[in-house]
Amino acid sequence: MSDLKTTYLGFRLSNPIVASASPLSESVERIRQLEDAGVSALVLPSLFEEQISLEGLAFDSDLSRGSESFPESLSYFPDMTDYNLGPESYLELIQEARNTVSLPVIASLNGVTRGGWTRYAKLIEQAGANALELNLYALPTDPEETATQVESRYEELVRDVRETVSIPLAVKLSHFFTAFPNLARRLDAAGANALVVFNRFYQPDFDIEAQEVVPSLALSHSYELLLRLHWVGIVYGHVKADLAVTGGVHTAGDVLKCMMAGARVAMMTSALLRNGLGHVRVVLDDLTRWMEEHEYESIRQMQGSMSRRSAANPSAFDRGNYMKVLSSYVLR
Ligand SMILES: Cc1cc2nc3c(=O)[nH]c(=O)nc-3n(C[C@H](O)[C@H](O)[C@H](O)COP(=O)(O)O)c2cc1C
Repeated sequence: MSDLKTTYLGFRLSNPIVASASPLSESVERIRQLEDAGVSALVLPSLFEEQISLEGLAFDSDLSRGSESFPESLSYFPDMTDYNLGPESYLELIQEARNTVSLPVIASLNGVTRGGWTRYAKLIEQAGANALELNLYALPTDPEETATQVESRYEELVRDVRETVSIPLAVKLSHFFTAFPNLARRLDAAGANALVVFNRFYQPDFDIEAQEVVPSLALSHSYELLLRLHWVGIVYGHVKADLAVTGGVHTAGDVLKCMMAGARVAMMTSALLRNGLGHVRVVLDDLTRWMEEHEYESIRQMQGSMSRRSAANPSAFDRGNYMKVLSSYVLR
């Protein structure tokens, strides 16, 4: 029997499939179902900075950008009470989840600003979360703000939270960085124990009749994994932090690719929303079958085997691949 065990954020996990943040973990009942389905850890839906700040209206300038006044900017944000629970109930969910399941429960905070919400990082720790994922989903819309400033803000935020809590800290990022390997290293040095790559960017659509910008959320497909494999493969070996893939993990083949690129875990949401929780078992069985057929004894054995460092031809990750791909297209 192949050994599917891996480690993530210091936890020994029975297999590399982790449920990423989504409504699938919004209640204790659902969390129990995730455990029964076979995931090895789970991330709770994010508690949003806006939810925390609404109480005290202690917004930082970031969130009021694009509006004249703070109260006006509030209208941009949906009523979050339907998405998750609000700060107090969130802490209760952590406690209940910890009392109910034996999987590591990773809480998630979504914020962009320093300050106020480090308080919640502390409360989340006190509520008993096994680890905390910082979901850094900020959109730099201010033409005055430089890439260096954005990155420094992230770095300081991670450092602030690191100084506030002692539970393991994961950082979930978008892929919009000019020099991702450098940022990865800086976040690593700032105290991130894991980097979760990458947040999906939910581009709003335009309703041309109503002339309105409308939110759109479509579930992912496996092809979105390629971007993640590329950057995990490049960063692997350059940071101490564990690497986790989120975005486009649907099949056992996808999980294997994540492992070979250098990830410790492969996270799933869309695949579970689309196929139901029974899909976890299907993927785990396929994973075991593939490993047996290919004589792999353990997941650990393959982690990083196809990273840029280990690749027989590292240029496949670089500019060489760009030229090769373009010239490989055959005109009909
Ligand atoms: C309905 C829904 C809700 C989500 N809520 C959160 C959230 O609260 N926090 C977060 O970090 N990611 C959230 N995500 C993103 C997922 O955790 C995941 O990163 C993303 O869907 C990409 O993975 P996938 O291809 O497996 O779906 C959500 C995704 C969906 C579809």
